[in-house]
Amino acid sequence: MKKKLIAGNWKMNGGLSANEALIHALRSGLPATVACQVALCVPSVYLAQVQSLLTGSGFDLGAQDLSAYEGGAYTGEVSAAMLRDYGVRYCLVGHSERRQHHGETDAMVALKAQRALACGITPIVCVGETLAERESGAMEAVVKRQLAAVIHVNGHCISEIMVAYEPVWAIGSGKTASAAQAQEVHALLRAQLKAASSQADRVSILYGGSMNAANAAELLAQPDVGGGLVGGASLKAPDFLSIIAAAR
Ligand code: 13P
Repeated sequence: MKKKLIAGNWKMNGGLSANEALIHALRSGLPATVACQVALCVPSVYLAQVQSLLTGSGFDLGAQDLSAYEGGAYTGEVSAAMLRDYGVRYCLVGHSERRQHHGETDAMVALKAQRALACGITPIVCVGETLAERESGAMEAVVKRQLAAVIHVNGHCISEIMVAYEPVWAIGSGKTASAAQAQEVHALLRAQLKAASSQADRVSILYGGSMNAANAAELLAQPDVGGGLVGGASLKAPDFLSIIAAAR
């Protein structure tokens, strides 16, 4: 079976000395054998620093966003090829905070996934419904629409992506989806991927949204949950280490 992935999303947090302290604490607290893969998705400005701090750790480097364009006159943007230069293996695309605060559309998210794949970076495509969407019965339609756009543009290599189901109402709120709620949506997404590709079983679907040391084991035990995308708890070494230990 494919190893689970525990990915920390630092969001817009960190600093040169804080990063060093956090990674030192993670590395020194890590047991000799770890059953899962681990990645840190850090702000772009810290990629070089974190790449060097992770040398020999077995952790992979991740980014939080990339440009939908290949290169050129796009001030402020960072391309997939630039991320690749720093050894980035994973890149979040379409995180709900980017959809919400930066107007990212399903079509842009699909192009970003395409750019990542073209440079050998695994896009972690984030999907998830808001509380209002869940309460109005639109959850299934929303997550399927978000994933469908990515499948449409990346059809033949869809088995190379990863997906993260992050219900918006669970992000940073302390309200986690129950294990049954998470599994229900993961199974829907798995079925949608299977309809698009015979290789869909290779796609890991991570859960994200207030995952913590106390709830990780139950969430990660669900059959279609292939790992976790961890925000706040990834900034605290003991909490992140407990989540890593829960992923088997
Ligand atoms: P929290 O774990 O802080 O809820 O954040 C989840 C998230 O958005 C990860 O991408």
